[in-house]
Amino acid sequence: MLQGIGKKTVLAASLLLALGWAGAASAAGSFQVVGIGPGDADLLTLRAVNAIKDAEVVFCNAKTKDKLASAIDFSGKQVIDGYNIIFWHHGQECPKNEVRHAKQRMSCEEYHQKQAEFAKLARKAVAEGKDVVMLSGGDPTIYGPDIWTLRELHDLHPKAVPGLSAFNAANAALEVGLGEVVLTAPFISKDGEKDSLEQLAKHEDATVVIFMPWDMQKTFDRLAKAYPTDTPAAIVSNAGMEGKEKAVLGTVGKFAADLSGIDGGRSIIYVGKQLDRAQFAKTPAPDKKGKFYLVGMGPGDPDLATLRAMEVIKKADLIFSGSKLNEKFAEVLAGKQVIEGYHRLFPFYGKDCAEAEASGRRRKERMSCEEYHAKQNEFAAMVRKAVAEGKTVAMLDSGDPLVYGPCSWSLTELSDLDTDVVPGLSCFNAANAALKTGVTEGEKSHSVILASGWSAEDMSALQSTMVLFTMRQEFKDFIDKLSKHYAPETPAAVVVKAGYANEERVVQGTLGTMLDKVGAEKLPFEYMLYVGDFLNKSPDRMTAETASGQINPVQLAQGE
Ligand SMILES: C[S@@+](CC[C@H](N)C(=O)[O-])C[C@H]1O[C@@H](n2cnc3c(N)ncnc32)[C@H](O)[C@@H]1O
Repeated sequence: MLQGIGKKTVLAASLLLALGWAGAASAAGSFQVVGIGPGDADLLTLRAVNAIKDAEVVFCNAKTKDKLASAIDFSGKQVIDGYNIIFWHHGQECPKNEVRHAKQRMSCEEYHQKQAEFAKLARKAVAEGKDVVMLSGGDPTIYGPDIWTLRELHDLHPKAVPGLSAFNAANAALEVGLGEVVLTAPFISKDGEKDSLEQLAKHEDATVVIFMPWDMQKTFDRLAKAYPTDTPAAIVSNAGMEGKEKAVLGTVGKFAADLSGIDGGRSIIYVGKQLDRAQFAKTPAPDKKGKFYLVGMGPGDPDLATLRAMEVIKKADLIFSGSKLNEKFAEVLAGKQVIEGYHRLFPFYGKDCAEAEASGRRRKERMSCEEYHAKQNEFAAMVRKAVAEGKTVAMLDSGDPLVYGPCSWSLTELSDLDTDVVPGLSCFNAANAALKTGVTEGEKSHSVILASGWSAEDMSALQSTMVLFTMRQEFKDFIDKLSKHYAPETPAAVVVKAGYANEERVVQGTLGTMLDKVGAEKLPFEYMLYVGDFLNKSPDRMTAETASGQINPVQLAQGE
């Protein structure tokens, strides 16, 4: 848990605002759903701060307003409470014999009425030329209760401002670097479905992250049947909240047998062998006075960094960073001691060079195994020296440093020091926002797989929504691999340069049309590929008739 910076958000906000990154305001009225992140106000991005600052009308509840008060001045704004989390039954006919979910506060008809009231209020304000925002906890596109508003108001060309998810904050709490991940929810994925917890358990290289495990005991009973009981597991509660965040590491069997002291309320469960590498519980040696931070700087433009990241940079005595980040954050880093050249050093970390050579990996990397080891040692020695002198050291990384992050090895290497991770917005969060829809709202699947080229084929057997971190692999290879399990009419999208206001681009289509749509274009390093029928709910794919979120077979066939 990050110590001692939570209350300094106002200072950080002024620093960021001084950079002059434009918010989303425009002369005409507008509507945006703004992700406010999980936990404390300092996990807001500057883009979110600016969007709220520029808005005249803010839909948010009283609790959110209080939480953000240290970073946002709400005076002079029309703040409208009562319209968050009213998504139930949106776009659907009310069932004749309604059986209410425990979380539903109203009947179907009452939800419809509230939704209509909201739409009327928002439309009126936009028609009057006002900028309107709906504040939504975490990342609005991951099990977000307010993302439906983009569908409802799709004719107003609404936008989403990405927010950190509880997942990003929980990664940081656990201090564990992750590759293949499946985000899921237990009440949705039932036994027998292709992406049920039981099926996910068969993909032993993936970390399964379970949102909203309201019945914690039932969830672990199910996990204990699906996984070997010694499979590592963790529970993170109140991620991102200073003083309240709690992470507990155990095994599936241990948690199934004893959940005493665990609060299921605001918790998220992690399962998978990667958790063995979680560093959060390591106790630093008592003679180490300073601290090492791994800091997520977000993707895209610099306004997608969080207030918390800016605070850490401000107080850091020594910063390690890559050339691109240095350029991007030149103003923030001015006057700081910044060392380049130690950014992507994960290859061969912890590996025996003779064995690595025998496995044939050596040829693919920029340096030899021995050279990587030497650089890793140089870096660690510099950090150790500075920390022993009582200094604060920060290693900056783009995106979420713990999702396919090239610097996460540093946490293992420096586990004898006092380390902390500042969660960052991942390119995944930013690309979701570009698609303007809930990635967990598929027709057939409510899980999302974050995969790379290595696992694309294997993981696509689950038939879940798939998001690919592409990392310089051949585009056609992805389409070929995915086509083995997904039908050609499966909706697909490419998001290029997510989070860059002037360069972000979305190509919508189907798996069958994507190669033609992308054509001969050489895609940049920064692009992601999405597959899944959730895309049919993207307002950009909808016509007026399909605004309720129903799939339009004509659009599907045409890949529009
Ligand atoms: C090594 S991973 C780093 C991910 C990073 N840790 C994060 O959470 O954003 C690099 C891959 O992430 C994706 N990526 C990174 N930045 C992106 C952006 N702005 N837009 C789209 N994709 C991006 C690309 O697929 C790229 O090949």
